[in-house]
Amino acid sequence: MIAARLAKADGAWRGHPGESAMSRETLVAMTRNLVAHGAADTMEYAADIVRVPASAYTDPAVFEQEKQRIFRRLPLMVAPSCELPDPGDFKAMDICGVPLLLSRQKDGSMGAFLNMCTHRGNPLAAGCGNASRFTCGYHGWTFKADGDLIGVASPQDFGKIDKSQHCLTKFPVYENAGLIWVTLDPHSKLSIADYLCGYDELLKAFEFEGWTLFSQRTLAGPNWKTAYDGYLDFYHLPVLHKDTFGADFYNRANYFAFGPHQRLSTPSKFAIKVQGDDDQQLDLEAMADDQLPQDVLVQGVWTIFPHISIASFYGGGQRGAMISQLFPGEKVGESYTTQFYVMENQPETPEQVQAAHDQFNFLEVVVRDEDYATGKRQQQALASGLMKEVLFGRNEKGGQVFHQWTQRLAGASDDDLVEIFAQEQRQAAE
Ligand code: FES
Ligand SMILES: [Fe+2]
Repeated sequence: MIAARLAKADGAWRGHPGESAMSRETLVAMTRNLVAHGAADTMEYAADIVRVPASAYTDPAVFEQEKQRIFRRLPLMVAPSCELPDPGDFKAMDICGVPLLLSRQKDGSMGAFLNMCTHRGNPLAAGCGNASRFTCGYHGWTFKADGDLIGVASPQDFGKIDKSQHCLTKFPVYENAGLIWVTLDPHSKLSIADYLCGYDELLKAFEFEGWTLFSQRTLAGPNWKTAYDGYLDFYHLPVLHKDTFGADFYNRANYFAFGPHQRLSTPSKFAIKVQGDDDQQLDLEAMADDQLPQDVLVQGVWTIFPHISIASFYGGGQRGAMISQLFPGEKVGESYTTQFYVMENQPETPEQVQAAHDQFNFLEVVVRDEDYATGKRQQQALASGLMKEVLFGRNEKGGQVFHQWTQRLAGASDDDLVEIFAQEQRQAAE
């Protein structure tokens, strides 16, 4: 059944939502696809070269529409679960002008609230920490971690109100695979699980649920789509990253799409098994399905539409991953990216801690000084308005698909959104 899906003549590989028990089978099928293409020295191509108007990156009106209709309407991956592991852990964020408060509940579930006191709108919390209740810093109203209003300051003077009608506004929230999604529209009718098209079940293969957060930082970048294009692109690896990753890096990727979410990985019949100083080359063609190691099954880059990229690394004697989270900035040519470095276990010895820092710092240099430095130059040149279109080749299917989905979802009505993802489920089930 999976093999039949892989054999689709147009190379349009589709996942199968709701198949959690079959996740490994799906991952193995992707690996077999990559091995077969690697052995044949081929890759999957998009049907045509695609042209994207340069204004998609530079027009302030397009940018405003994307903030409103993509970021304030679609589920966003707001934090890895390990950033808020314990009851009472909270984090306040501002996303496209929306103040968000995440708060781990007593029962371990995640709460997501509009970070605004229901008295006169002052944000209740800033930064992150641990609290069982939030007291507003303006007049002293108090809310429980589940959003209930429990205390009005000087109630005898304030006047009578029904406290149950003035709890914090809740956002839809969903946690799976060690990741937390929130939709910044309290009235959203789109189920977050539907939106993920089964992709979250595959992301479980990273096993983030039991991992820890080693470190995080935030970097400034160009327009969010200029920045995100780079995560969907292996074409640039041996050129832009010749001094860091090396000039002999493969520049081909096959793309596996689950709705708008795409995994990209290099077609190859070999994988490198990292074992500290003693790396070992695995011949995947010669291995049985049940021998394929977990880190081979998740190789490459896993993007989560519209703003997340996940890639595995090894440093400090542990499996690790960098989760990059992009948001639009204030202006059309600005974005910011939080890099979360998550690890299977905290490194123990000083040498391991240093090795993990070295790995994480290396990834900062690659992204800041190579990807984003280039993206900012590209952004500035595009802003001249003197080039009308940019190109995505047949080998750059990920970028093509990303821009098509962005345009489609930004233009969809609220009801269309629900229907689009219902249709994805039906198509994948065929
Ligand atoms: S705004 Fe929060 S108590 Fe007045
Ligand atoms: Fe890059």
